[in-house]
Amino acid sequence: MMEKRMLGKTGRNVSIVGLGTWQLGADWGNVDPAQAQAVLAASVEAGVTFFDTADVYGDGRSEQAIGAFLADNTGLDLTVATKMGRRMEQRPENYSLTNFREWTDRSRRNLGVEQLDLVQLHCPPTAVYSNAEVYDALDTLVAEGAIRNYGVSVERTEEALEAIRHAGTATVQIILNAFRLKPLDEVLPAAEAAGVGIIARVPLASGLLSGKYTAETSFAVDDHRNYNRTGSAFDVGETFSGVDFGQGLNAVAEFEELVPDGVSTAQAAIAWIASQDGVSTVIPGARNVEQARSNAAAGFSGIDATFDVGVREIYDRYFRESIHPRW
Ligand SMILES: NC(=O)c1ccc[n+]([C@@H]2O[C@H](COP(=O)([O-])OP(=O)(O)OC[C@H]3O[C@@H](n4cnc5c(N)ncnc54)[C@H](OP(=O)(O)O)[C@@H]3O)[C@@H](O)[C@H]2O)c1
Repeated sequence: MMEKRMLGKTGRNVSIVGLGTWQLGADWGNVDPAQAQAVLAASVEAGVTFFDTADVYGDGRSEQAIGAFLADNTGLDLTVATKMGRRMEQRPENYSLTNFREWTDRSRRNLGVEQLDLVQLHCPPTAVYSNAEVYDALDTLVAEGAIRNYGVSVERTEEALEAIRHAGTATVQIILNAFRLKPLDEVLPAAEAAGVGIIARVPLASGLLSGKYTAETSFAVDDHRNYNRTGSAFDVGETFSGVDFGQGLNAVAEFEELVPDGVSTAQAAIAWIASQDGVSTVIPGARNVEQARSNAAAGFSGIDATFDVGVREIYDRYFRESIHPRW
């Protein structure tokens, strides 16, 4: 039975394991539309009730795939979070009410819904998070009924802390995984205290924490794990969590030693995140039905205090010095 948790100020309960749908749009090699529908269906069958998408994933393809799924499966208690703000140059002045209305109208059409459950600012420039006018504009969207709730997706912990200070922020999406522990210091406690939900993204460090890659593994030309390893297309943190691939392989070999019998490495990685206080939902991306099912079944098996200490030791040895100060 999938556990559900309250998603911050949205007032909605969502599955502790959700589904990230960047893969269903683009940037990870090819995904065909039938496969996208199969991944969504398998996730829901396995108890997933939360999808994370964005207007920019495949320039709307990911949203449209979810829209088609919703149209074919009415009456499900699903929560769909989308994001806005990366289809235009990311300049503070572009985060305006006029643009918000245009962007959310497009997402409503793509998803085929009157009202968006949750819209997240998609990693805007840092200045945007402290701009009261931006929050006023988001409040207006809520008042007008285009969106039910809003939140933010952030790159840096200070951005999360700033957004949490604004009363209307329902959720914060942030990178949190065994190779990215900084949110545990301040962001999770602050979110919990303020009743803000935490959506933990990139839980598998783009697949590194599945333990299936080797030094010989290569990725498709149109896969960001090929073209964004140094952050040349977008924030390097979104690709393998910003860790060096070789160092990641060494660290995951040690992580695997902590994984209990009967649980896959990816499942343990997801379950560990879910076990952290303050996390509302963990959103692994799945490129096929098998991954979707396996991730949804991650639960909490075998995650105890020893495992937790082991994760922190690996982080301290491999990543704290290089990774901690960057975000
Ligand atoms: N700025 C933002 O707001 C932002 C940025 C990044 C991501 N996100 C969201 O977060 C979601 C999750 O992050 P992510 O997809 O970037 O990274 P992730 O979940 O850490 O990694 C996804 C990759 O892990 C591998 N994988 C997944 N399940 C597996 C399993 N059961 N066994 C083995 N391998 C498995 C797959 O790799 P292969 O393809 O090699 O099979 C998959 O493509 C995204 O889909 C998106 O919704 C948001």
